[in-house]
Amino acid sequence: MPRISPATVEQVAAASDIVEVVTSYFPLKRAGTEFRALCPFHQEKTPSFYVSPSKQSYYCFGCGAGGSVFQFLMQIENVDFPEAVRRLARRSGIPVIEEEGGVEEEERQKRRQRLLRLHGEAAAWFHGNLLRTKAAHNARTYLSGRNLNIGVAKRWQIGYAPDSWDAFIKWAVGCGYAKEELVDSGLAKLRDENNPRSKIYDRFRDRLMFPIHNDVGEVIAFSGRVVDPETTGAKYVNSPETLLFSKGNVLFGMDKSKRAIARARSAIVLEGQLDLITAFEAGFENVVAPQGTALTDRQAALLRRFAEEVVLFFDADAAGEKAAERALEVLFAAGFLVRVGELPEGEDPDSLIRRSGAATFKNLVDQAKDFFDFEVDRNLAKAEARTTAGRVAFAHKMARLLSVVPDVVLRDTIVSRLATRLSIPRDAIDHLAKSDPPKRVQRSHGTEAGVQVPRLPRHEIAVLCQLLLTDASTLEWLRQQPWRPILESVPGAELLISILASGVQPDVPSSLASFLATLDKEQAAALSHVLAQKPVEREVGRIFWAEFAARELRLRRRRLESVRRLAAEDSETFQNAGIELKEVLDLESGVRDILRLLSRVP
Ligand code: CTP
Ligand code: MN
Repeated sequence: MPRISPATVEQVAAASDIVEVVTSYFPLKRAGTEFRALCPFHQEKTPSFYVSPSKQSYYCFGCGAGGSVFQFLMQIENVDFPEAVRRLARRSGIPVIEEEGGVEEEERQKRRQRLLRLHGEAAAWFHGNLLRTKAAHNARTYLSGRNLNIGVAKRWQIGYAPDSWDAFIKWAVGCGYAKEELVDSGLAKLRDENNPRSKIYDRFRDRLMFPIHNDVGEVIAFSGRVVDPETTGAKYVNSPETLLFSKGNVLFGMDKSKRAIARARSAIVLEGQLDLITAFEAGFENVVAPQGTALTDRQAALLRRFAEEVVLFFDADAAGEKAAERALEVLFAAGFLVRVGELPEGEDPDSLIRRSGAATFKNLVDQAKDFFDFEVDRNLAKAEARTTAGRVAFAHKMARLLSVVPDVVLRDTIVSRLATRLSIPRDAIDHLAKSDPPKRVQRSHGTEAGVQVPRLPRHEIAVLCQLLLTDASTLEWLRQQPWRPILESVPGAELLISILASGVQPDVPSSLASFLATLDKEQAAALSHVLAQKPVEREVGRIFWAEFAARELRLRRRRLESVRRLAAEDSETFQNAGIELKEVLDLESGVRDILRLLSRVP
């Protein structure tokens, strides 16, 4: 990790006015207390990009980009955090104090830059091979057999890796790249993986090459498809994990589709790159593909920046069904509405569009059912659904998914609908959803720079965060309340805790910016989203806090009471729950006092 001293970050935050910095890139128009412009991060006709001098932050209502002056620079210059600090420091003549690791980081950046250049040049070389070389004859025939013409090959920079062990290496060495770099890029492999001195050979041989871009459009990896059907190797060979590429962080096609996704607020998720290319070319531009793997948290968060809804199209086979199932929890946890598209047996979107045309696919997109309805229909068609046990088992499965839905209102709505359709009492499903949370997969934090992902906190927490960051008096007031013992057991309250525990001063804009700088990108983007909403009034805010606290404490008390009932035999658990219960009761009575006090205020 890079190490710029926190003191430097604070100094730079204090010295950099976001309005000035943004105006050095493009002009801003005044809009009340804020400034407005066409968003530089997505295509739009009416301005939805706002800069707030008092909050020293920016936010785009169109694409969800947002953050402090640091995030702005990271996004517009496509640099990482330390580089953004350095550039801003240069602007205001602040000396940057780098702690240990600075040199290392610089080395890493240099290597990254060279690898990016190599990937860009390699993509052009592969592409040139496909268009111009004799050796690519079969590859060209294959492409046209799949209805992919030269125009498509050009737009997607599809290429060809020759049937040779060293054609790529020879070309790359001729361009001045070192053997180690070729190995680091994943484009060449060591004969003996454990011996860096062993000979190297081309990873991709006799394959159609699809460049994989990150969401800002840089080539960071390749996927190679066999051309010769007789080949025994895997149908697709992909770049390995490298300094540039981590499969779970990238959605194929996102660089081209993000505008259409932001416009539609909806993304069609397909399995493979050829599905994506065919769909995009047929006019379905809001598409992405996780390339055959289960969707990861990072991919979902990346997508969530642009869309609220996902329409899933996974292959109509067992593998596709599995992949869809794994994707769901991740999608629900990220706050998506999910619809499921049904493909005819044996077809994938690519084959369907080619065989039956775009209109047929369009119908499937339009008719895609809400996931829960889809699942209920499928379940009710099964014999087990006729027994109570069968329906309860199914309700369990659905409840596990429901429990990760962050939006309370949405969750409630789905619970009601499920209850009606399964003829199971609402409370029972509600109860299951609370007692049966699935184990969340550890989130992987990738190395890809330039990916900004707000994971929005649930509504109540968002409102409170906003209030605390905009109203010094409320922040002061709440800091005097016993917020820690209340919040520590509230899932998802980390942001709120970090605000209360910080020294942030809402009426000092630079303090806000340096506070935002202490957060990771996701949190900073989430907060700036929150900050861009219409503020809550001070009095309303205090009552809101007290009611929120009362609700959370009540839930905790109920849980503890049932623990005591259930653990009457186990004296240790029983006693511990009793101690905690007493604490909760004290806190609850404190909160009731506050509520009484507040409601007396006119
Ligand atoms: N995939 C992969 N490695 C494999 C097989 C598949 O990475 N050995 C990924 C590819 O991204 C592929 C996706 O999984 O696009 C879906 O696989 P599959 O349905 O088997 O391939 P298609 O996309 O239908 O590819 P094609 O139409 O070229 O056969
Ligand atoms: Mn296919």
